[in-house]
Amino acid sequence: MSAGQAPPPVIAVDGPSGVGKGMVTRWLAQQLGWHRLDSGALYRILALAARAAGVNLDDADAVAACAPGLDIRFVGATEADEAILVGGQDWTRVVRAETTGGLASRIATAPAVRAALLQRQRDFRLPPGLVADGRDMGTVVFPDAALKIFLEASAEARAERRWRQLSQAGVNASLIDLCAEVRARDDRDRKRAIAPLAPAADAVVVDSTHMKPDEVLAEIGHLLRQKSLSA
Ligand code: C5P
Repeated sequence: MSAGQAPPPVIAVDGPSGVGKGMVTRWLAQQLGWHRLDSGALYRILALAARAAGVNLDDADAVAACAPGLDIRFVGATEADEAILVGGQDWTRVVRAETTGGLASRIATAPAVRAALLQRQRDFRLPPGLVADGRDMGTVVFPDAALKIFLEASAEARAERRWRQLSQAGVNASLIDLCAEVRARDDRDRKRAIAPLAPAADAVVVDSTHMKPDEVLAEIGHLLRQKSLSA
């Protein structure tokens, strides 16, 4: 980008775990032909890489020190053909594992870890535009985003959606345990001192507790048109 040129536009999609941010950002990126950033995956990969290197996950400086050396590539645009390559190896399954989300939220409370990933996230801002999903896209990473969406849904609704997904994949899971996990992660994300999960002052909050996926996308499409954002 040359001096004086406006940076590519960003749409920030924030919200708690399991609320459907992935579905919304994939759809938006496809509609607009823009790049996509799954910032949660970066926290997940960093936690896994630090653990694999024998680092104590409570030692924030040591975890942060693992970030610069990570060679991360996201391949594919849909959930079905998506692959996450770390150092050329396919880490997709382990990155997406439920337990990895817990590890990520543990390291994500540390300012040193968040600082280590900040520029890396901003580097995804490339023409023609970026759709970014996470917890602090609209508040910290891209405060100048053209559109900020904050997706909400009750913990029960999110746990139930996750339970259905797992059942369809043939995985036996306890709805009660899933609900407890969702609540524990929410608590940690919302109460942490730095970049807590919260809507930006200028975010549009979409509560999908009682909405079907196509109703959520229709609402997001409406917001796009209001902002005159298109491919
Ligand atoms: O979105 P995902 O579930 O993959 O994120 C895993 C964890 O990483 C979250 O629970 C949260 O603690 C952390 N995270 C974060 N900031 C982001 C994205 C994720 O703190 N922008």
